[in-house]
Amino acid sequence: MTFQLALFGHPVKHSLSPQIQQNFAQQFNLKINYQLIDVRGDQLIQKVHEFFDQGGHGANITVPHKQSIMTVTDHLTERAQQAGAVNTLFKKKQQLWGDNTDGAGLLNDFNDKNISIKNKRILIIGAGGAVQGVLPNMVQSQPKSIHISNRTLKKAEKLAQSSNLCHALSDTPINTSFDVIINAPSLGHQGQSPDLEPEWLSLNTIAYDLSYRAAAQPFLTKCKSMGIQQSYDGIGMLHHQAALAFALWFNHIPKQPLNDKFRTNY
Ligand code: ATR
Repeated sequence: MTFQLALFGHPVKHSLSPQIQQNFAQQFNLKINYQLIDVRGDQLIQKVHEFFDQGGHGANITVPHKQSIMTVTDHLTERAQQAGAVNTLFKKKQQLWGDNTDGAGLLNDFNDKNISIKNKRILIIGAGGAVQGVLPNMVQSQPKSIHISNRTLKKAEKLAQSSNLCHALSDTPINTSFDVIINAPSLGHQGQSPDLEPEWLSLNTIAYDLSYRAAAQPFLTKCKSMGIQQSYDGIGMLHHQAALAFALWFNHIPKQPLNDKFRTNY
């Protein structure tokens, strides 16, 4: 039997998910067909229903539908509720569930890289859907503080309300550098990096971009030019969120990391 899987989003054509999921499936001798379904908002609900009515086994959801898909599901897991976003759909007892594996995927990748955020000072740049999705898991890891910097300060302030560990970063100077800086605005897709203030950085600051490959390059290049020695793109997070989705669909946890052809080194 071939299990039908799909990614719904816009755009989806450059997604690595089909290769990643094929690799996982081979680890367990499972046959899958992972389709990329490019869909705009007004078609999303209909297309998702069609997919599952025709025997779809599970799906991933990506930008820009991670929030709007929440109206389609019968149930949401606790972490999807906390994140306010869904990236994985699975069936249980004929009911459609929405979950979010992004935050756990990020923490699993930190774990692979021996990055501990407990008691650390964190800066997140960006306050969009990607940040909203990972923030609850980051807060649960008990960092010392999470500052959120965003072009639109109000959005950073709104996200920061979720926990007393979080603060919106305004123009007020800060007097200590950050241990970990996470980049999450969609700017990298336009070949740009956000500005970084020298006082944010120390020799030990770790930089991490939630996007991967070309989209992460502008930020990671800037970090290097400012002396940051440890910087990563989000390819590891991508694999981990995919592995957690696979586990929801098949009850098997695939091996991580995958082979080197998927890895990006800086
Ligand atoms: P995603 O799901 O990838 O997070 P999103 O929800 O559209 O996408 O959020 C995009 C993020 O990138 C936001 O933080 C946005 O800042 P605003 O809240 O001010 O819109 C940020 N962003 C996008 N373009 C930007 C730009 N040219 N300069 C600075 N920040 C930008």
